[in-house]
Amino acid sequence: MTNVVIAYESHDNERPRQSYKTRAGSNTNPPTSSSPHNTTMTKLKKIILIGASGSIGTPILEALIRAKSSFDAIAILTRPSSAPQFDKISSEHGIKILTVASYDNTSDLTAVFAGYDTVIAALGAAALDTQLKLIDAAVAAGVERFYPSEFGTATDSPALGDEPIFADKRKIQAYLLRQASSSSSSTNNNKLSFTALQTGSFADWALANGFIGFDINAKTAKFIDDGTAVASFTSLRDIGDATVTSLLHPDASKNAFIRVQGFAASQQDILKVLESETNSKWKVTKTPISDVLKRADEALEKKDFTTYAVSRIQAVLWGGNGAFEKDEISNQKIGWAPKDDLHAVVKQVLASK
Ligand SMILES: NC(=O)c1ccc[n+]([C@@H]2O[C@H](COP(=O)([O-])OP(=O)(O)OC[C@H]3O[C@@H](n4cnc5c(N)ncnc54)[C@H](OP(=O)(O)O)[C@@H]3O)[C@@H](O)[C@H]2O)c1
Repeated sequence: MTNVVIAYESHDNERPRQSYKTRAGSNTNPPTSSSPHNTTMTKLKKIILIGASGSIGTPILEALIRAKSSFDAIAILTRPSSAPQFDKISSEHGIKILTVASYDNTSDLTAVFAGYDTVIAALGAAALDTQLKLIDAAVAAGVERFYPSEFGTATDSPALGDEPIFADKRKIQAYLLRQASSSSSSTNNNKLSFTALQTGSFADWALANGFIGFDINAKTAKFIDDGTAVASFTSLRDIGDATVTSLLHPDASKNAFIRVQGFAASQQDILKVLESETNSKWKVTKTPISDVLKRADEALEKKDFTTYAVSRIQAVLWGGNGAFEKDEISNQKIGWAPKDDLHAVVKQVLASK
């Protein structure tokens, strides 16, 4: 885990500049202990989840419901057109459904956030920029903790350089860190802190939908290079639980990039388990990473943004930067352990096909 004290520059598009960094296991006191907001134990009890029907929003909502006795209020903020799908879950579990006409209206958002201490943004790629307004509203409403829509690679890692596919996430980080930084000033009422929860790839999601190169029905594997690069993974259910655990350990997760990991595996590791569980030999093809990057460039030229994004992310995953640094994994720091390892995920995905 990296706790950060934030030093700001005025350019939103720049990578957040971390003036201090602790690594798990170091003897250094967490830098945030000097903040006036650390003198009392934070409690995060009133939670708003945005994007609750999405790939990661759904398991986060399920985990919140499993842990609902730990919270005073759980609410979903959703677009009016999406609200009806939550009727059943709302009546069964006492989840409040909140809507605003537009996420562009900061004062409407502020009114909705009032009385809640935590906002979790699990918004999809198309809506990442929306978070700028959500953060403004969170500050204005006196929200204490904002979870930006991260849930993936260590997008803040210097090893990734200026990887363009994560520019939107870095922009939000920079903006959020600036707001969190000004919350340490005693001259305003801003209480905002942040938790950026990074999880590696969604293990079951990525295996089932072919994102990491496996076609379960056809029994084929598409390796990038020789398939030996290692990446971090966490199952959807485990990500939901890790999110809840981080809420229940608010001081450990405060102003921190929390990297949780279910397991680390290469494409070769995954293939071995798939072959053993299906008792068959799979067909393997290999593509040099340079071809994957070329495919991304060509897609960008044709304005095929999906192929562009998928190809760039695959190149990050299997290009040597897909796994979290061991000493930056925050599982222990937030008191969390995964339930699903590679074997469990493979079995679960095969059973669902
Ligand atoms: N690590 C991985 O393997 C992995 C995989 C996929 C995604 N991710 C990351 O996880 C995060 C969430 O992605 P996701 O795939 O779960 O998202 P998603 O399913 O595409 O969308 C999540 C929710 O965002 C809301 N939304 C979508 N478009 C919107 C718009 N234009 N304006 C306002 N709200 C909108 C919707 O909520 P309502 O309908 O309720 O309004 C939707 O259910 C992202 O940061 C993404 O990069 C990581």
